[in-house]
Amino acid sequence: MAVAAALKERLFGLDEQAIEKLYGKSLLLTMEWSREDLESLMAVAEAFEALDRRRIKTPLHEHELAYAVFFDNSTRTKSAWAGAASRLGMRPVIVDGDSTQVAHGETAEETGAMLGMNAHALGVRHDKILGQGHTFQRDMLEGVRNYLRATNDDRQVPLVNLQCDVDHPTQCMADLLWLREHFGGDLRGKKVAVTWAYSPSYAKPLSVPQGLITLLPRFGCEVVLAHPEGYDLGPECLQFAERSAQEGGGSFRVVDSMDEAFRGAHAVYPKSWGGRALMLERVAASDAGDAAALDAIEARALAQNAQHTDWICDERRMGLTRDGLYMHCLPADPGAEVAPEVLRRFQIQVARQANKKLYVIMALLAGAKTRGLWGRLLEFCD
Ligand code: CP
Repeated sequence: MAVAAALKERLFGLDEQAIEKLYGKSLLLTMEWSREDLESLMAVAEAFEALDRRRIKTPLHEHELAYAVFFDNSTRTKSAWAGAASRLGMRPVIVDGDSTQVAHGETAEETGAMLGMNAHALGVRHDKILGQGHTFQRDMLEGVRNYLRATNDDRQVPLVNLQCDVDHPTQCMADLLWLREHFGGDLRGKKVAVTWAYSPSYAKPLSVPQGLITLLPRFGCEVVLAHPEGYDLGPECLQFAERSAQEGGGSFRVVDSMDEAFRGAHAVYPKSWGGRALMLERVAASDAGDAAALDAIEARALAQNAQHTDWICDERRMGLTRDGLYMHCLPADPGAEVAPEVLRRFQIQVARQANKKLYVIMALLAGAKTRGLWGRLLEFCD
């Protein structure tokens, strides 16, 4: 009873009107959301986490269909989608994007109309090729909206970006929630090193570092981005990161040394991504459906990565930090991106970081689909 009262008090602290503004919202890029709306999303995510940890069920949308399409592999995000939808009473379905008619040329807008008529929430991962994923998601959402408008259907069918070529917003919001929890809420003055790290496994998308540099300075972090030459992030994201620092009182700078980024950092986020020039070369090969060219580019990308095997998060580098928190979106490449002993030391922390994504997705689905969500959350405490 005391636990429910404490939770109720926390919920009373939330801004009812601000939470209502989440109604009808889809999340494609955090850059498109106001800071206030991102704050509301985090407040709702924290409320769902608190309810879930107390085993309080929150079936707000029973028997509705939460349909997610993945054009790339996933372990964490797929299960977070399924876990979030189930906790809201929805039925999660996850399909392989390459098994849909998109593979035969059906457009994103047509796909959106079809899925929007049948489902009650949509998730999409489309992150492999620069310039494609965000455009696909935007067109798909347009298809959903056009269909619903044309048929006078007032259902809210939000679209959640489960990683595109530009951003990985459910991941980066989870990261922000974890940083806040770890550092007690206030991130002002906290230095976060977002650095490239060596990977021999595959040329990874740019969306996580781009999502981090555009989001974290808006919430007060002092973000230092470090990468070797040739691994620049998108120019729009770099520009937004500068503006983000001005808006949020944080800072943003780019260096070319992993040691410099780590020195004095409160948190480090070393992860690999593909060299930008080769990632751009992939666009034409993908448009032409040239699998051999894509394979050849991938081999060159891994050879480029192999020139920087010393970009590893090891205990010597962790020693440069201010007893820094190791972060990774996972999966990490042990022995390449991170020394196995560092990964072992932070095994539980990175799992807790990953777990936040489930509550971010719950907040996105419930926020977009539930009128009077604040009151409904309070009712769960009774
Ligand atoms: N971090 C992340 O998005 O993990 P998955 O690729 O397993 O979903």
